[in-house]
Amino acid sequence: MDPRIKKLNERIEQAHLGGGQKRIDKQHSKKKLTARERIDYLLDEGSFEEIGILVTHRTTDFGMDKEIYFGDGVVTGYGTVNGRLVYVYAQDFTVFGGALSETHAEKICKIMDMAVKVGAPMIGLNDSGGARIQEGVKSLGGYADIFFRNVQASGVIPQISAIMGPCAGGAVYSPAITDFTIMVENTSYMFVTGPNVVKTVTNEEVSSEELGGAYTHASKSGVAHKTSANDIECLEDVKKLLSYIPQNNQETTGKIEFNPEDEIRDVLTDIVPENPNKPYDMHDVISGIIDEDSFYEIHKDYAENIIVGFARLGGRSVGIIANQPMFLAGVLGVKSSTKAARFTRFCDCFNIPLLVLVDVPGFLPGTDQEWNGIIVHGAKLLYALSEATVPRVTVITRKAYGGAYDVMNSKHIGADFNYAWPGAEIAVMGAKGASEIIFRREIAAADNPEEKLAEKEAQYAEKFANPFRAARRGFIDEVILPKNTRRKLIKTFSMLENKKVNRPNRKHGNIPL
Ligand code: COA
Repeated sequence: MDPRIKKLNERIEQAHLGGGQKRIDKQHSKKKLTARERIDYLLDEGSFEEIGILVTHRTTDFGMDKEIYFGDGVVTGYGTVNGRLVYVYAQDFTVFGGALSETHAEKICKIMDMAVKVGAPMIGLNDSGGARIQEGVKSLGGYADIFFRNVQASGVIPQISAIMGPCAGGAVYSPAITDFTIMVENTSYMFVTGPNVVKTVTNEEVSSEELGGAYTHASKSGVAHKTSANDIECLEDVKKLLSYIPQNNQETTGKIEFNPEDEIRDVLTDIVPENPNKPYDMHDVISGIIDEDSFYEIHKDYAENIIVGFARLGGRSVGIIANQPMFLAGVLGVKSSTKAARFTRFCDCFNIPLLVLVDVPGFLPGTDQEWNGIIVHGAKLLYALSEATVPRVTVITRKAYGGAYDVMNSKHIGADFNYAWPGAEIAVMGAKGASEIIFRREIAAADNPEEKLAEKEAQYAEKFANPFRAARRGFIDEVILPKNTRRKLIKTFSMLENKKVNRPNRKHGNIPL
């Protein structure tokens, strides 16, 4: 064999072995796939084209010139997922624990730049011990080069981060800027400072899992949008997520076939209980409306009083935001407002129409909420929906009270079509609370105050606890039967397909943060 070809083959072979068989075995013993196995599973068979396989680090300190690995701890390139082009990097934990060097960062930046130029999603598979300690500030610079690109790409191409091992220190800020972070249960963790530093600084004893494991970030911090049981599930999740989103901000998600006969859904008729104080599961309403089994929930275990996620409606990809009466009666709070605002902005960036299902008794009262800034956080959702130019349609299934009525995609803040079910109550507040305030003197002076309150409550409810006042003003475009909701929404979104909105030129707005 030509010695030059032999040399090339040897280098490629070495690159494929990463940090060597022993370290690969160790990776497998932790129930983790290697970087290359992950890419192979994620991409369509045979579609991966690697970039930078022969790159090596340039460090000579601490004997590093004797430890050279082709590819330098990250596998980068492009390929297809269900036929669609994506760019991908996978950190290789078998090489210096996947630690990020200057050249490792350069490889990631190279494909990020390409992904933006070409207009294709960027997927990062993270598994790294952080900055390469032997390189010092060069590796910190490498992180910042990636962060900068994450920000420039934001809203231009979708960016997805899978956390499939450690992700600590500066490393966390790239996933934080990307659109979605999916964490593998038990084998991944993310934190700014690890348990040892936490112990030194705050004297708290906490495990890695408790501090920054998948469950923690999916339920307490909201840093993770989703968790997956293992590497394979995580990669399946990335693929599924991609199916709802377009290649870039100039495109829309492809429509798929659906069954047009499946339009009337009687199952929607009896979901909302007659008693307005009784909860019901808004997931039932969602699945009653959308194409069968098409809901992909985001932030499922975080701020459960609001539901967000993607679905298909008549074959079209839509983003759904829905109050959940099963948790805290579906009120808006600090976390739920922020969750829905972030989701709204993603959908608006990437031309995904929004369906908002409303059953909201108002904002969550209390010192905890006020002192944590519900005013500013609630304003995020108001702001995000008000600035969204994608088709926006609302269905009020039951309550739409107070300021929360305005915030939840009302006509006043630019929604295109607002529907209400016949049992909807659109008012400043519930009938009891309202009567206690406006008829206070009359009730106090009555022989039987309780009876008087009930009488006044009934009067108020008769006047306001319905959708008709709002419909008379045109704030509600139509009162529809629940069973017709799916058909109505499919028609409405189809009609809105070519919606265009021109906003006055500005650098960017100043969303309350
Ligand atoms: N820089 C250079 N090499 C690193 C590294 C880093 N940041 N993190 C890990 N490595 C190397 C280790 O030296 C080890 O090398 P070896 O295979 O030659 O023995 C290999 O990666 C695997 O690390 P190990 O510690 O054996 O794996 P682990 O699963 O037991 O622990 C970590 C993983 C990430 C918890 C641990 O490696 C760690 O704490 N790393 C340092 C984290 C850090 O402080 N980073 C810098 C700040 S961002």
